[in-house]
Amino acid sequence: MVNRNHNLLSEKLFDRSKELFPGGVNSPVRFYEPYPIFIRSGKGINIFSVDGIKYIDFCLAYGPLILGHSPPEVKRKIVEQLERGWLFGAPTELEIKYAEILSKLTGMEMMRFTNSGTEATMHAIRLGRAYKKRKKIVKMRSGYHGSHDYVLVSPGSGATGIPSSPGIPDETSKNTLVAEFNNFNSLERIFKENGTEIALLITEPILGNIGVIPPEEGFIKFLREITERYDSLLIMDEVITGFRINYGTASQFYNIKPDLIILGKIVGGGLPFAIFGGDKEIMENIAPAGKVYQAGTFSGNPLSVAAGIATIKSLKERDYGIFNDYLDTLRKFVRDSIEDFSQEITMNGIGSMFQFFFNNSVKSVNDAIKSDTKKYFRFFKFLLNKNIYIPHSQFESLFLSFKHRKREVEKLGSALYEFFRENKDWK
Ligand SMILES: Cc1ncc(COP(=O)(O)O)c(C=O)c1O
Repeated sequence: MVNRNHNLLSEKLFDRSKELFPGGVNSPVRFYEPYPIFIRSGKGINIFSVDGIKYIDFCLAYGPLILGHSPPEVKRKIVEQLERGWLFGAPTELEIKYAEILSKLTGMEMMRFTNSGTEATMHAIRLGRAYKKRKKIVKMRSGYHGSHDYVLVSPGSGATGIPSSPGIPDETSKNTLVAEFNNFNSLERIFKENGTEIALLITEPILGNIGVIPPEEGFIKFLREITERYDSLLIMDEVITGFRINYGTASQFYNIKPDLIILGKIVGGGLPFAIFGGDKEIMENIAPAGKVYQAGTFSGNPLSVAAGIATIKSLKERDYGIFNDYLDTLRKFVRDSIEDFSQEITMNGIGSMFQFFFNNSVKSVNDAIKSDTKKYFRFFKFLLNKNIYIPHSQFESLFLSFKHRKREVEKLGSALYEFFRENKDWK
């Protein structure tokens, strides 16, 4: 367990924090027992806690920081923009520059900049419903698209959504149908029963909010095919996957063209930013060109745009192939742990996103939720004591950056092995 004496300042800050913020945090995922470690600074692959402890970071702020913490080439552009001013409430040339770059790289003809992935998916769904003049939408169980009413649902009987938070009207959730990722039949059934009323299907191409679950062979193509068959839109939520597994979108990686794409995290270079976009024919329904309303005081703010451009430019010459090597290295430690200590552990990963599941094999959400979450949390605490920082929940993704080297990856792998060696009798 964490030596509490090492985290005295974090503990004290949390005591103050919980008086001011619900649960002591500004986003629920940041809380864990007994109190979260408070971070003072970050540089490269490291974060430094208020208690002066240095960690190797495999959480990377839940995804945006593919160049590590405060990369100089991004910082320089943010500072340059700071000198010119950081908010005008008027269009800037920088926005055009960025949209031109992203249009070339992702195939989106037209886009709208927002401040968060939550906003982007909310507005893309509104747009999709207006465009198709249909009410129902389909999402995957445990797929995450932000914290707004349309998508915060859990499956109910007959796969009709029920609100997964108090305060969400049943009337909203009943229009959200919930399918099973990697389950072709569940989608066939939902579309067969509701097809003519379904405006759109929204999904992550690789589930990243229930650990990491890549699509099975042919599944993404099938999503494209079934949405076309029922004349519904396909929205790919690439808030995590955009520029994470390749220099572009996962949709390109799987060789399909969605109707709308959502980008976030990496494309904002670590500042608040997201995008939804697609073909002009659909996007021109957004106000003021069209009637679908969407707006934001901070949308396309120059600091986020400057950070985004600098990040995407810096990623251009990078070799994403290096991550395959890193994941193979980790898989070897997983195999050794299984062989030497006969433990239940598996690893899913693609590109620079991965997760260890405390289970035998995870191909579906049903498999993922059977994982031993208590053991995972114990692993998280064990790693903190080894100065390694990962998300505290089994149902998040771990991330690599271009700043990580093989030696840090090996450190994580050998810590996993050690965890099992020390806990080999613990079932
Ligand atoms: C796939 C996906 N979509 C949307 C969101 C929401 O983005 P934000 O937290 O920027 O609102 C997230 C956040 O983690 C996400 O992972």
